Amino acid sequence: MKIVLITGASSGIGKALSYQFASNGHNLVISARRQSELDKMKQDIESRYSVQVIVKPFDLAAENAADRLYDELEAFDIEAMINNAGFGDFAKPWETDLVKAQTMVDLNVKALTTLSLRYARDYSDTNATLLNVASIGGYTQFDVAVTYCATKFYVASFTEGIAQSLQDQGKQMRAKVLAPGPTESEFIAHSSEQGAIDGEGLFPDSAFITADQLAQYASQLFESDKVVGLVNAENQLELKDPIFPYRQVPH
Ligand SMILES: NC(=O)c1ccc[n+]([C@@H]2O[C@H](COP(=O)([O-])OP(=O)(O)OC[C@H]3O[C@@H](n4cnc5c(N)ncnc54)[C@H](OP(=O)(O)O)[C@@H]3O)[C@@H](O)[C@H]2O)c1
Repeated sequence: MKIVLITGASSGIGKALSYQFASNGHNLVISARRQSELDKMKQDIESRYSVQVIVKPFDLAAENAADRLYDELEAFDIEAMINNAGFGDFAKPWETDLVKAQTMVDLNVKALTTLSLRYARDYSDTNATLLNVASIGGYTQFDVAVTYCATKFYVASFTEGIAQSLQDQGKQMRAKVLAPGPTESEFIAHSSEQGAIDGEGLFPDSAFITADQLAQYASQLFESDKVVGLVNAENQLELKDPIFPYRQVPH
């Protein structure tokens, strides 16, 4: 069975993406830690659309969890993988909670790397799409979140690099970066937890788009032949070619 894997599906952007892809007729594997939320979504999505939803509860920041999740998908044909699970931290570098920063790297960077590379290894010669969720903070450093932004610079450059390598080598698989700006979700609350800076009010209300709007932008990026989908300061989607410098090394 063909499926789309969506991590971080239990709220915000991942939840909206799940409904968006289901409404377009895709079967889903949805993952996050909160199984109760995923179970409710499964019931609701399957009652609205004729698709199957498989629930895979995982804490992807835990050791080997990304490998275990990928292993459990062996029976499926993964037509798209959306690495969306992630969180931020509002704090100056010298006030950052170390455990939170390390967990953020484990989730935003390590788990995403494992899932992306295993997917590329198995699917590079197929019509598969990898969509990794970075941020505008993956292209600009914000003083209140440099560690978070650095994890998203990793996501953006890593995914652009995969996209360009796939293109260079004439592979069928595609890789794309979604770079949202402020989007309504639980992100601000979780980025403020244990954080030295309260995220409430950091961005004006007018800076936010809804998660449903972002899911529509994701769909446009998915259908396009562009690699980067960046939400600009006017809350519009800009579809772009890769932004980071890239060089071929003769071999
Ligand atoms: N909202 C924004 O303004 C914004 C802007 C730019 C980029 N982003 C990025 O968009 C992505 C989605 O965030 P969001 O805004 O939708 O925030 P959100 O509502 O907090 O959603 C985060 C999702 O990640 C999951 N998650 C968190 N920790 C996890 C863990 N250890 N293991 C597995 N899943 C975990 C959460 O589910 P559980 O709690 O159930 O595990 C939830 O489903 C993130 O990568 C974020 O960095 C957001």
